[in-house]
Amino acid sequence: MRNVRNIVHMGSMLMSLMMISQALASPSLDASVEYRAALAAVPDARRGDQIFATCAACHGVDGSGLPDGSVPVIGSQHYPVLLRQLVDYRYAERWDIRMEHVSRLRVLQTPQDLADVAALIASLQPMGPTVHGSGESLTSGVKVYFERCQTCHGATGQGDAYRGIARLAGQHPEYLLRQFIDVVEARRPRLAKTHTPLMRELQRAELEGMADYLSRTRRSRGDIAP
Ligand code: HEC
Ligand code: HEC
Repeated sequence: MRNVRNIVHMGSMLMSLMMISQALASPSLDASVEYRAALAAVPDARRGDQIFATCAACHGVDGSGLPDGSVPVIGSQHYPVLLRQLVDYRYAERWDIRMEHVSRLRVLQTPQDLADVAALIASLQPMGPTVHGSGESLTSGVKVYFERCQTCHGATGQGDAYRGIARLAGQHPEYLLRQFIDVVEARRPRLAKTHTPLMRELQRAELEGMADYLSRTRRSRGDIAP
């Protein structure tokens, strides 16, 4: 009897080990399967609204985050970009203890959950930028931005939903600067090939200037705040 139980126990241990090693073997494959499943889902705005109540505790009811840059603006981000960002936290392509917690465990579980909440967030109109950089490095920041970034992210940082390019406009400057430094120091794996070479050689003042410029552009309206 005991032997049978041991064998069953061994069997289930082996199963879990196999599942774990499968999960470890292809995280990016699973991530892209989930991303595609979320893209194919038809979002339900009412469910999105319910899920967003948890997110609003940190990101605010209009998705405008916190001016000190500790929590980013997410409102009006392009739908496919939001799906990609959430999948990245779920599959350890981005690391943040708070976002890993909400996106992996209780709040977001299925591709449908991702679609529902992303549709709601994409429809929000967050407050215009409330904090800018100091203005000191604005000129050099704008120059570098137009040389290296605007062909993809657009003149005022609106990005492009169809090409999956992130909207950077109207983001808190401290948050953007932190992302830029993470890119330079290769802490954003999915941006390593495309972005790290573009930004590695830049001076700190140029990074600050770009963040300052983008904090002055208005999200979704496409112009620059007065
Ligand atoms: C406990 C606070 C907290 C909660 C709750 C929370 N977030 Fe976040 N969120 C953050 C922080 C902090 C960051 C920035 C993390 C980083 O630096 O990578 C972030 C980043 C994000 C980003 C990436 C934005 C970008 O442009 O880089 C998205 C998208 C996002 N959150 C969506 C959500 C959604 C959807 C929910 C609800 C299901 C949620 N968040 C709940 C704190 C929170
Ligand atoms: C060839 C097109 C291209 C160029 C040039 C480009 N980007 Fe991007 N950028 C993208 C795309 C596409 C994404 C979304 C990447 C993803 O997550 O898959 C992105 C994402 C980002 C993000 C991350 C947004 C998030 O998820 O938090 C930042 C920050 C960023 N770009 C800044 C820049 C800056 C600054 C420059 C210029 C130095 C630049 N990019 C040049 C295409 C481009």
